[in-house]
Amino acid sequence: MITEPQQGLEGVVAATTRLSRVDGLAGRLTIAGYEVEELAPRATVEEVAHLLWYGSLPNAQELDALRADLAARRCPPAATLALLREAAKRASPVMDALRMAASTLSLGRNGSVEDDARTLVATFPAIVGAYWRLLHGQDPVEPRADLSHAESCLHQIVGTEIGPERARAIETYLNTVCDHGLNASTFAARVIVSTHSDLVSAITGAVGALKGPLHGGAPGPALDMVMEIGRADRAEAVIRRKLARGERLMGFGHRVYRVRDPRADVLAMAAERFYATEGNRELYELARAVETTAVRLLAEHKPDRPLNTNVEFYTALLLHGLGLPNDLFTPIFAVGRVLGWTAHCLEQLREGRLIRPESAYIGPSGLRFQPLDSRPMRAPRITGPSSSVRRERE
Ligand code: CMC
Repeated sequence: MITEPQQGLEGVVAATTRLSRVDGLAGRLTIAGYEVEELAPRATVEEVAHLLWYGSLPNAQELDALRADLAARRCPPAATLALLREAAKRASPVMDALRMAASTLSLGRNGSVEDDARTLVATFPAIVGAYWRLLHGQDPVEPRADLSHAESCLHQIVGTEIGPERARAIETYLNTVCDHGLNASTFAARVIVSTHSDLVSAITGAVGALKGPLHGGAPGPALDMVMEIGRADRAEAVIRRKLARGERLMGFGHRVYRVRDPRADVLAMAAERFYATEGNRELYELARAVETTAVRLLAEHKPDRPLNTNVEFYTALLLHGLGLPNDLFTPIFAVGRVLGWTAHCLEQLREGRLIRPESAYIGPSGLRFQPLDSRPMRAPRITGPSSSVRRERE
């Protein structure tokens, strides 16, 4: 029997997982047994990769082996770089370039899913970094095997040495966003691989899902709002105007969390630490003031729907402090989340079943086929996204 659908599958449990638990009421995120506050600021990305792929933190020998293996896989294939050069000539958005480049990682694959997982995770930073540099008339930098995954992620973009504060900040960020239950992009990846398709296809689809402004595309606009406000005493008036116009405040609200997103806390702490020594401290203070006002006004605006700060608000602040421009926020999110996507794909392949839900048909029935010349005249249809989607983009 088909039951009424839950719009947007809210509250529907569609998979079991050992990778992460999102407790939206308590505001807790558990990553393979560790609270995000415990794991993200302490672990290296390589340790988290071992945890998600193999179920435990690595010992020293396992860590060395994984580090060396990932470092050896950093260089994208020549054909990938050629494609990035073409995309840069056309000034394609970075997420489009990443999606196109991700699919080229099928070149030279040997068929092992574990191998694909490692290559995808290891190569994403170099793809993003190379593309960003090509877009700005610079040559990609040769990936360095002596750097950690997190250091390499920044090095591929800026091409210079990364100090320890910056390395820790980006590492904390990547760990914080590595996995988050059955979010839209992870679900997309699991659906694709549930057909026994390959990991490269699944991750390419996931990049497409992450690109949307309701999922991974929020941090740029969140920072834009802070910049637009400019001074703490303007926050109330600007935010009230936005809400009165029916705009969504980017960096606030979440499908699952009814309290503050715990990842926002981890990144706020990382930002606090980072801005204590580097970056524009005034911007950090302004963002804190904007956050407080936004949460208060959202509670007034939607008293029945708790809307709190989500991960994207402090993502924007931290990545901006690291010198990364808005256009790189979502691609760097993908660099962190690709780890969770691959781990979910491996889990789905090991334990899952074809994901094939049903739909409830709400269209007409019993229509008779009409010959072409007897169909009614109609005004031409407007093509493109619906008006509500257009509003979201404006
Ligand atoms: N600002 C203003 N109003 C909001 C916001 C917001 N940030 N978020 C939700 N609402 C309102 C929304 O307009 C709706 O009102 P109404 O019922 O009158 O139409 C109501 O709250 C419920 O919204 P919804 O879209 O049905 O709720 P959802 O669970 O589908 O939305 C969300 C979750 C993240 C898409 C939404 O909160 C949002 O659009 N936030 C801004 C974008 C953003 O920050 N996205 C990053 C999410 S965190 C990264 C990730 O995990 O993907």
